[in-house]
Amino acid sequence: MVKKILIFLLVLAAIGGVCALVHQLKVAYKNKKELAAFAQAETYTANLGKVLVVYYSWTGHTQDIAEQIAALTKGDTYRIQTQEEFKSSPAFYARIKKELGNKIYPPLEGALPDISQYDTVFVGGPVWWYTMATPLYSFLGQVDFKGKKVIPFSTQGSNPGTFLEDFTASAQNAPVGTYANFNNVGEQYKQAVHNKIVHWLNNL
Ligand SMILES: Cc1cc2nc3c(=O)[nH]c(=O)nc-3n(C[C@H](O)[C@H](O)[C@H](O)COP(=O)(O)O)c2cc1C
Repeated sequence: MVKKILIFLLVLAAIGGVCALVHQLKVAYKNKKELAAFAQAETYTANLGKVLVVYYSWTGHTQDIAEQIAALTKGDTYRIQTQEEFKSSPAFYARIKKELGNKIYPPLEGALPDISQYDTVFVGGPVWWYTMATPLYSFLGQVDFKGKKVIPFSTQGSNPGTFLEDFTASAQNAPVGTYANFNNVGEQYKQAVHNKIVHWLNNL
């Protein structure tokens, strides 16, 4: 009996492993195809006025994109910080899932930015459980974007879920501009990702 259970568990683990591998291969293929379209460098020509790039980043991916946007637009940056320092653990994922379900969003650290002096405000962050990371909900709940052009962006493993829809529903008084999302990809795509950012900015 124990032997049968062990064999069953091994088969389950093998199926799980194969599914994960197939998923990874599919994502890698999709990334390669998408970024091939951005092989050509484009000159930055946009004029977005005075720019603020607001972002939340737990592990650095969104920060990288935010800094490239700020460098191109000669904009300022504002990093959303939580009062609690989040520690990585499997329990953290479960906790966030529960908090998103219960609309519990973390208190933020520090003063909010004064957006009145900006023409265009980018707001970006990671996708958590197919929606916005909870600190983005905290931020959007406290800011009135009246009169501003707001441009959302996200970074994610492979599936942005309903990030844009949830952002649009949460951003107060904001005419939301064209959203861009960025999968986490390897160093070999660094230039293509940069080209994608320039293309996006030029077409806002
Ligand atoms: C709690 C949690 C949930 C996540 N959920 C998703 C998801 O639904 N879809 C996805 O593609 N990536 C998901 N990710 C991966 C992040 O979106 C991705 O690594 C992102 O680029 C991290 O951004 P950061 O480095 O700026 O924090 C999740 C990560 C965490 C920590």
